[in-house]
Amino acid sequence: MYVAQPIEWTDRGVVILDQRRLPADEISYTYTDYRDVAKAIREMIIRGAPAIGVAAAMGVALGIQKSKANSIAELRSEFTEICDTLRKTRPTAVDLFWALERMKRRFTELLESNADMAAIRKALVAEAQNVHLEKLATDEAIGRFGAEFMPREGQVMTQCNAGALATAGIGTALGVIRVAFEQGRKLHVLVPETRPYLQGARLTAWELHRGGIPLTLITDNMVGHFLKSGKVGAVVTGADRIAANGDTANKIGTYQIAVLAKENNVPFYVAAPISTFDLSIADGGHIPIEERNASEVTHIQGVRIAPDVRAANPAFDVTPSPYIKAIFTERGVATAPYTESLKRLAAAPVVGAAR
Ligand code: MRU
Repeated sequence: MYVAQPIEWTDRGVVILDQRRLPADEISYTYTDYRDVAKAIREMIIRGAPAIGVAAAMGVALGIQKSKANSIAELRSEFTEICDTLRKTRPTAVDLFWALERMKRRFTELLESNADMAAIRKALVAEAQNVHLEKLATDEAIGRFGAEFMPREGQVMTQCNAGALATAGIGTALGVIRVAFEQGRKLHVLVPETRPYLQGARLTAWELHRGGIPLTLITDNMVGHFLKSGKVGAVVTGADRIAANGDTANKIGTYQIAVLAKENNVPFYVAAPISTFDLSIADGGHIPIEERNASEVTHIQGVRIAPDVRAANPAFDVTPSPYIKAIFTERGVATAPYTESLKRLAAAPVVGAAR
């Protein structure tokens, strides 16, 4: 089945598919400067929490590979500058910070083992490639755990795009749907278009269509109507950050879907890797919510659709954990009480790590 490839490490540089142009054009750019990778994250050329993490790891590797530092001391200060630049791109998806932390850990290990500059450059490229490689195994494991919870046949709903484009693997929420479909479950996916950035209409519809998975595109204000129909067997979405108590930040609009799902007795599931956990925060009230430019609301693909008025654009909302029936991860399925189950999974042995 077709799997989109949003990012790739090559000898020429980091190749990133421009998700702003999908589905009309499939255009990729080759980045040779980490600052441009940071810009690509900020401008959502690449987006989706795990894919942002992969891009950040590759950005660090690229920065160090191209560094003109003449000493380890210079390289160390450049490393800090590179991480700071990447850190400031998008605030909500914790995978970004997870990836930077992981690259920092590897860098520190290398410094402690007195590796020379050439060895450091090579090892950081390998580490970024591992971050990418692991996404496939992680997503497949999430998919296998989650597929068990999908209906044998009928409709399932998702939100935004939590597919291969968003993870650089097979996807989290769409990975669950894909595995269930490949197992023979006769699923039909309801895809909310996901205003303002239209990740559902532009990206999820494109990925599912390419993968041969039946879908129906709906507008965001049709969600309640369909959940009330009695025909939707489950909702499954991705996540950008999961707090210690299970409160989950995901694309704006997810909260209202979760509430309407509960009201209509439709199970609402979250699919996400452990790297999306942020157990340092007690609940969703501490999750920073990115506020994006109002022009994404007042304009669609550069065309103004509203008068020149004030527009709000919070990119994410937080679904309180009582609305979440289960969280599928690569190490198993978490259910309430999440303060215990998430901690247990975070401490469980790593499955499918490339190194
Ligand atoms: O603003 P985006 O497109 O980066 O937001 C993406 C989402 O909210 C996804 O649902 C989330 O990152 C999970 S991706 C597997």
